[in-house]
Amino acid sequence: MKQRLGMLIAATALATAFAAHAQPAPKKAAPKAPAKSAITAEFEKFREVLEEDNPAELFEARGEEIWKTRKGPDGASMAQCDLGLGPGVVKGAYVRMPRWFADVGQVMDAERRVVHCMVKYLGYKEEDIRKQPFSNEQRTPDHVSVVTYVAAQSRGMKIAAPQKHPKEIETYQIGKEIFAYRAGPYDFSCATCHGADGMRIRTQDLPNLRKPDQAVRAYQGWPGYRMTGGFMLTQQWRMNDCFRQQRFPEPNYLSDSVTALLAYMTVTANGQVYKGPGIKR
Ligand code: HEC
Repeated sequence: MKQRLGMLIAATALATAFAAHAQPAPKKAAPKAPAKSAITAEFEKFREVLEEDNPAELFEARGEEIWKTRKGPDGASMAQCDLGLGPGVVKGAYVRMPRWFADVGQVMDAERRVVHCMVKYLGYKEEDIRKQPFSNEQRTPDHVSVVTYVAAQSRGMKIAAPQKHPKEIETYQIGKEIFAYRAGPYDFSCATCHGADGMRIRTQDLPNLRKPDQAVRAYQGWPGYRMTGGFMLTQQWRMNDCFRQQRFPEPNYLSDSVTALLAYMTVTANGQVYKGPGIKR
């Protein structure tokens, strides 16, 4: 714990250093090639050290407790929640989503499925969850901790989002189209910033999400512990934030278009090993 505290203090110092470098998003973002910035290189080094003692574990533990001990008003529990591999099975489920769920007739990503189960079995109210779907400095919502637990139970496993059911294939196709769809005040698409190698905005390297070896970054570090602030952020949050980067209206929480984008990026990353939950600056 002492060691962890030391790490956290170092993390805070580093985060402050980053904050000092952070600048408002460029007006007409012009992603530039190439070269990893020195500060990014420093951060990567630092992250490697911190990953061995990732504070995400605290949220993982909270999520595990909710999964294993919470009961709904009628005595149901997450033991009834089917993440695609059978009721209550968590191991390996995260890397096999988004997938088709026959009980709801929908393709769902991990966060969507977890929220679905928490509403169905534990009595959480969807409208309450929608009031604060993402973490902030005050609060990391329960479903975020559960997603972190579920994700951690797939650590070290190969990403294997299925493409069998026609709806899984269709969802991937829609995601691919959304990725390339240009609109908004600057006529940006996801591909404007993530469609070629070596792009960056200021200090941030932008992965080319069309390539398997980089698409894995859409998956790898998520959910991620954000050092600046000390809370967990999920893939769903990342998507909302990138719609904002794109100057698009933010999508509704747990919308089909976000699931489709996640399906596209996950399938592109299929076959690679999941090493999350991660750490973000
Ligand atoms: C104006 C540029 C811009 C646009 C457009 C944009 N993004 Fe991003 N994206 C960013 C920035 C900046 C980051 C943060 C990179 C970092 O933290 O190092 C990011 C990060 C990401 C990440 C996480 C990468 C990682 O390493 O964890 C994913 C996934 C992602 N974007 C997907 C998308 C998708 C999908 C879209 C379209 C809906 C999109 N982005 C549109 C700028 C953009």
